[in-house]
Amino acid sequence: MTEPSSRPLRPQADAGAYLGSEDEFAVETMPDGLQRDEVLDSMAEALDVLPADPGAERRVDGGASPNPASAQSQALDSGALDHTQVQELLYQALETEIGGQLVYEAAIACAQNDDLREEWGKYLAETRTHETTLRETFERIGLDAETDSPGRRVLRFKAAGLVESMERAAKDGGPVAAQLVAAECVVEAETKDHQNWELIGEVAKHLDGEMAAALAEAYAKVEEEEDQHLYHTMGWARELWIESLGMPAVLPPPEEEKKVTTAIGAARAKAGREDMLDEG
Ligand SMILES: [Fe+2]
Ligand SMILES: [Fe+2]
Repeated sequence: MTEPSSRPLRPQADAGAYLGSEDEFAVETMPDGLQRDEVLDSMAEALDVLPADPGAERRVDGGASPNPASAQSQALDSGALDHTQVQELLYQALETEIGGQLVYEAAIACAQNDDLREEWGKYLAETRTHETTLRETFERIGLDAETDSPGRRVLRFKAAGLVESMERAAKDGGPVAAQLVAAECVVEAETKDHQNWELIGEVAKHLDGEMAAALAEAYAKVEEEEDQHLYHTMGWARELWIESLGMPAVLPPPEEEKKVTTAIGAARAKAGREDMLDEG
């Protein structure tokens, strides 16, 4: 673990937008033993890693307002890819899969519905396979899977926070509340996981050679499972909330019954839930 840096944090307005205010961030020692200053520093470093405007360096017009046509032509040129940021995406994808397993283990412990417990058990197994797929991909493209980054440290902190949220809900709120919190925590974790893989798929299209092939093959293996993890769990979170409010719920949710794998499919499934209730 690195020593806390003496480098000043970014201005409060920036850090606050991401972290909440200092007062809200009252826990001195985080769940995995990280010190608060260290975590704040990692987050500030991560914000530095992310370009404020990813297109700014690549624009040819250099103007204050983006030119969509020139931005698009630059983005389609694989030479314009920021390879350091591509590596950061892959490191974050690996860390998300590692943290996702901790999130699923805690969520399964909170599950009350048998179908949901079974579904999350399947997703946990798939998440373990995704970690393996990424480690094999790293080996193939010559990337060290153990290289740490500020972004990875932030993701470890976030996973620990999700696990602690579920443990607190189980302790203070009881089983129904804990299951709802668990569904929301899985949605949060899977939103990041899903986006990582979407971006990996996009990056693969802008690369050539072995790296393009390695990323495209990994993406093809994982993509549909990530769609299910996110859209189906969003359905569970919604229907479990509806049930908790005393209204008729569709369980398992329509997204799972209809094996939804796209955002538009999820929207259709949600819109069709009333019909499923009528069919009963
Ligand atoms: Fe995954
Ligand atoms: Fe996932």
